[in-house]
Amino acid sequence: MLKVLVLYYSQTGNTEKMAKAVAEGAKTVNGAQVELAYFAEAEDLAGFDAIAVGTPTYHHDMPIDIKMLFEEAAARNVSLKGKPAATFGSYGWSGEAPKFVVEIMKNKFEMKVAKSPLLCKYAPDPATLDQCRALGKQLAESLIQ
Ligand SMILES: Cc1cc2nc3c(=O)[nH]c(=O)nc-3n(C[C@H](O)[C@H](O)[C@H](O)COP(=O)(O)O)c2cc1C
Repeated sequence: MLKVLVLYYSQTGNTEKMAKAVAEGAKTVNGAQVELAYFAEAEDLAGFDAIAVGTPTYHHDMPIDIKMLFEEAAARNVSLKGKPAATFGSYGWSGEAPKFVVEIMKNKFEMKVAKSPLLCKYAPDPATLDQCRALGKQLAESLIQ
């Protein structure tokens, strides 16, 4: 089985709704084992074949939990090189956080980020949740192909 991690942070539940839909989409792909998680240890990241990170934007930045996770992964030389990755997140007015995560994934960890972040203003509507499902599906499929 190919392992897909959908890791997210959410304070008021908007990014969490997106994360659940991303995981749902990934689970539709045969051969993908999907874990939806609010927390991960830096070392655990290496055990996944593909990683999606959901992060809301607070104070023009990503939450400290997400930042610390990647800083710890870098400090411990966790190799994520070449792993397919995606980002998404809810925002209110600027929405930088998922873009910052993409920069870290690409520049620090040499992960394969095929798409720009899936952003959603405040709560996701049904159409956005469909986009989230499609994102999860595409990420898992990129492992199978
Ligand atoms: C204290 C505070 C600061 C925020 N700062 C930003 C910001 O800098 N840029 C932005 O786009 N949205 C900002 N927001 C809006 C949140 O990103 C938005 O409410 C989002 O839906 C929260 O996602 P969550 O429910 O997953 O926590 C802020 C919200 C709060 C309460």
